Order: sequence, then C-alpha cells, then structure tokens
Amino acid sequence: MKFLKLVWEAAGVRRLKLAIALMGSTFGMIGVLVVVSQVLDPEGHTSESNVPDLMGLFLFVIAAFSVIAGNAVGQRLSVAVVEDLLDRIRRDFADLVRRSDYGRFEAFGITRVYDTLTRNSQTLTEAAILSIHGVAGFGALILGGLYTLIISPLVFAVIIGLIITSTFFYRLTQRRTHLALTETSERQTGFFSLFRHLIDGFKEVKLHNPRGASIEHEHLEPASGALRDSQVFAAVQINRGVSVSYFFFYLMLATIAFVLPPFVGDHGIIVQSLYVAIFMLSVVEIILKAVPVITRASFAIDELKAVEQSLREVVSNERPPSADVQFERIEAQGLMYSYFDPDGARSFTMGPTGLDLNRGEILFIVGGNGSGKSTLMKVFTRLYEPESGGILWDDTSVESNNVTDYRTLFSSVFSDFHLFDRLYGLPEIEEKVVNDMLGDLDIAHKTQYRDGAFTNTNLSTGQRKRLALAVALLENRPILLLDELGADQDPEFRKRFYNELIPGWKKEGRTLVIVSHEDQYFHVADRTIVLSDGQTAIQRQNGATS
Ligand SMILES: Nc1ncnc2c1ncn2[C@@H]1O[C@H](COP(=O)(O)OP(=O)(O)OP(=O)(O)O)[C@@H](O)[C@H]1O
Ligand SMILES: [Mg+2]
Repeated sequence: MKFLKLVWEAAGVRRLKLAIALMGSTFGMIGVLVVVSQVLDPEGHTSESNVPDLMGLFLFVIAAFSVIAGNAVGQRLSVAVVEDLLDRIRRDFADLVRRSDYGRFEAFGITRVYDTLTRNSQTLTEAAILSIHGVAGFGALILGGLYTLIISPLVFAVIIGLIITSTFFYRLTQRRTHLALTETSERQTGFFSLFRHLIDGFKEVKLHNPRGASIEHEHLEPASGALRDSQVFAAVQINRGVSVSYFFFYLMLATIAFVLPPFVGDHGIIVQSLYVAIFMLSVVEIILKAVPVITRASFAIDELKAVEQSLREVVSNERPPSADVQFERIEAQGLMYSYFDPDGARSFTMGPTGLDLNRGEILFIVGGNGSGKSTLMKVFTRLYEPESGGILWDDTSVESNNVTDYRTLFSSVFSDFHLFDRLYGLPEIEEKVVNDMLGDLDIAHKTQYRDGAFTNTNLSTGQRKRLALAVALLENRPILLLDELGADQDPEFRKRFYNELIPGWKKEGRTLVIVSHEDQYFHVADRTIVLSDGQTAIQRQNGATS
C-alpha cells in the first residue's frame, strides 16, 4: 500500500518510535487475547478455583494499557509524519508554481492545481488517523493466526487457508478501484470548474435568470449526477473487497464452530479457537474500516505526485535575479508568440514583430482590441518565452541565465493585474512615503498603508488600478509598463495621468511603456507603435510616421 510505504519512508528518525508504538498496540492485543483465552483453557485450573487469578489480571492490565498507549502514541506520530509530508508538499507546490513558466502554467490549468492540493490534503489527513489502527490490527491478525498453531495445528491450517483465499479474492475485486477513483477525481474537477461559473459569474447569473437556469439544470446537475455515480461506483468497488473479507471471516467462524469439532475432538480447544476467531473478526472490523481510507490515500498520493510532476515539467530553469539592473536600450526583433486551442491548433499568433525601447522615453503601444498589445507586452517583459526572435538588452542577449535580471527592469500594471494587500518584498519603504503616494494618486481617503498592509482593498475598478499603480511606482524600477491604466479613470484623473503624471515620471528618469486606447492623449508619447493583428503596422516618432 503506497500510503503506508510513504509514511514509513517519511517517518525518518521517528521510525523506531513508530515501530515501538505499533508493536505495543499489536502485542497488547495479542496479550489480551492470550490472557483471556487462558481463562477458557480446559486444562487451566483458574476456572475451577474460587481464588481470583491476580497474575492474569495483572498481565491483562499491562496488555490493555499497551494497546491504549500504543494506539495513542502511534496515532500522534503518524499524524505528525503525514502533516510534515503535507507541509513539504504544500511548500513544493508553492515553490513550483512560483518557478513555473507563465505561458505553460496558464495553459496547464489553475483549477487543477488548486483542486488537487485541497482535496487530497484532506484525504491524507484523515488516513493518518485511521491507518495506524489498521496496521496494528493487521499485526494482531497475523499473530492471532499464529497463536492458533499452539492451540491446534488443524485450526491454524484452516485459518491460514482461508486468509490466503480471501486475499486472492480481495485483490481480484480491487482491479477496477484505481480506474474508478481516477474517474471520480476527473469528474470532481469538472464539477468544480462548472461551479466556478456560478461563483465568478454571480452577477451575470443573478441578472439573467435563463443563464443561471441553463448553468444549473443543463450543466451543473448532470455533472453532479455523474460525480455521484462515479463516487458510488468507486465506493462499491472498494466495498466489494470489504464484503469478500467479511465473507471469509464468517466462513472461518462457521468452519471452526460446525465443521471442525468432529476432527478436533476436544471441546475445550474448539471453544478457545472460536474465541480466537471472534477476536480476529473484531480485528478485521478495524482493518476493514482503515482499508478504504488507505486505498483513497494511496490514490491521493498518486494524484499529488502526477500534478507535482506536471508542474515540474513547466518549471523554467532560471537563476534568482541579482541586485540593481539598468539599461540604455532594449532591442527586440522578430518576436513571435502563439496561443493554442485545447486540441493543439494555434488560436492566435503575435508577430513576428520588433520593438525598441530607449532609456527615458515615453513609448505608446496602441491598436484595436485583440491586436496583440498585451501579448506583446508579456513577451517583451519575457513573461512569455517567444517562439522565435530575441531580445537584446544593451549588448547582451536575454537568455535563461539572465532573464530574471531582465525582468527586474520592469514594474507593471497589466490589464489583468492582481492587487496585493501588502507591499510584499518591499519591506523597507516608510509608511509616510506610501501614504504620500496614495495621496498623490487621490485614493488616500479610501485606503492607507498601515503596519505593512493596506487598510482597504475593496475599491472601485478605477481605484484598484490607482492602488496597483502606486505599488508599481514604489517598486522604483527603470521601466514602468502600464496596460490600459487610463481606462476606467474619471476624465479629470485621466487628463492628469497623461498630461502631468506621465511626463513627471519621465522627468524622474523613468522609461514608460503605455498601452492605450485614448487617442486624445497620443501626443504625450515620444514614440508610438500601432499594432494590427499581432503585427507592427505603423511606428510614429513625435507625430511623424515611419
Ligand atoms: N491567455 C490567452 N489564451 C489564449 N488566447 C489568448 C490569451 N490572451 C489573449 N489571447 C488571444 O490573443 C489575441 C490578442 O490578445 P491581446 O490580449 O494581446 O490583445 P490586446 O491588443 O491587448 O487587446 P485589448 O485591447 O482588448 O486589451 C486575442 O485574439 C485573444 O483572443
Ligand atoms: Mg490588452
């Protein structure tokens, strides 16, 4: 069982303690079995005596204590080991996501990473608690079987024969379990992707009743039903094994009670054997409760490993950036980048197109919707790796060994930006500097920077953009890239943004790349590049066309 193997491997220095706890529990159970079965021993004299068997009682107490303590310590250890393991997996996932190549990660599917991590963490946590009882019970089952060898070799042979047969049939029933669990997992991810439409599109659904009804009845309900069916199917697969095991244990009980007596002869031995068989049945109960959980946990590990492996495949091999970087001129030539459909066909290709940027200039990127402006910006900042073409940073070509340094040149507010609640990675900025900046961008009345965090990020769309702009400015990097920042701003702020703020930032020594649709302000640019269908259509220098 993969899960148990993994826990054992991950236990490291705690292996000895875990083994002692398991043995304590197992031998404790056997101790209880032996002590009580001695009471039933036909040759024992305790049953005929009125003197209480103090020695027996003493051994019983030790054995029972050993079971309780072994289970408690074992459970604590296995939970600690599994939680350590999950801690490592969560950290690995976070690190892998951070190091992933943006374009390939985007295509990989964010829901899949998120869903796999949350769902399987839960399964493993639950398995950690139950599995320890299952393992100790399994040990007790084996030892209990061996104990019958002392009582009667014939009973022992019957028990071993039945255990081997039941194992064979158990394995036979489990052949389709993995398949069933895979299907369940896929349907679960599918269902949650659909459910996100309801949550992310709450407003649109609320305003448009037929849309909500269609999502709910035509898509969500069938997906939920399909998920239910495969959950039931998976449970049935797992439970077939449980039923088979029960069947053989009842068969064992019946054989000892009704078939063996004439062969064994001694009624006392039959009573003792029956007691051992009933003990084994109670242990089997414990094991069979743990088996489905361990099966699911083993599957959860497979799934986590598969996603981890897929993430490793999209990790880009980049070095961390060095400190300050500068530039005089960036020259990009023949840049090409394509998006692909799920079936692998190109859905949009940007380029080949070139783009130059000189230190201290204001460069505008303009063009219609879908002309490739944002895509070009993502390739130019090397978030996307171009399919062909290259970027020359002063005299150095941007390659994987210096790409993180190159990215350090840029601060950005992309049109699909994310607003952070803190200035992550900028610990030394004084509160006053940040609050002055918020004042300058006219949002100080809505949010303040206090104790390392913004007091409010529930802002209007325009205000959110201004806060993101403040963060980008505070990063204080040579190039400021703003993708449609003027959109969603009121006319007053927009006017100030183009006529005062942008020229002001230029005077401070910043280089500006502005993606814009606001043609009344195009004159602010030193140079303009017009994109059309992913290609550079026109380049204008201070109003002149080239
Ligand atoms: N993440 C993506 N996956 C697949 N295709 C994409 C993705 N982002 C953009 N596209 C496609 O690439 C093309 C160019 O998109 P892009 O966002 O670069 O245009 P844009 O010029 O910035 O447009 P807008 O002015 O509307 O912001 C579009 O046709 C779009 O469908
Ligand atoms: Mg865009």
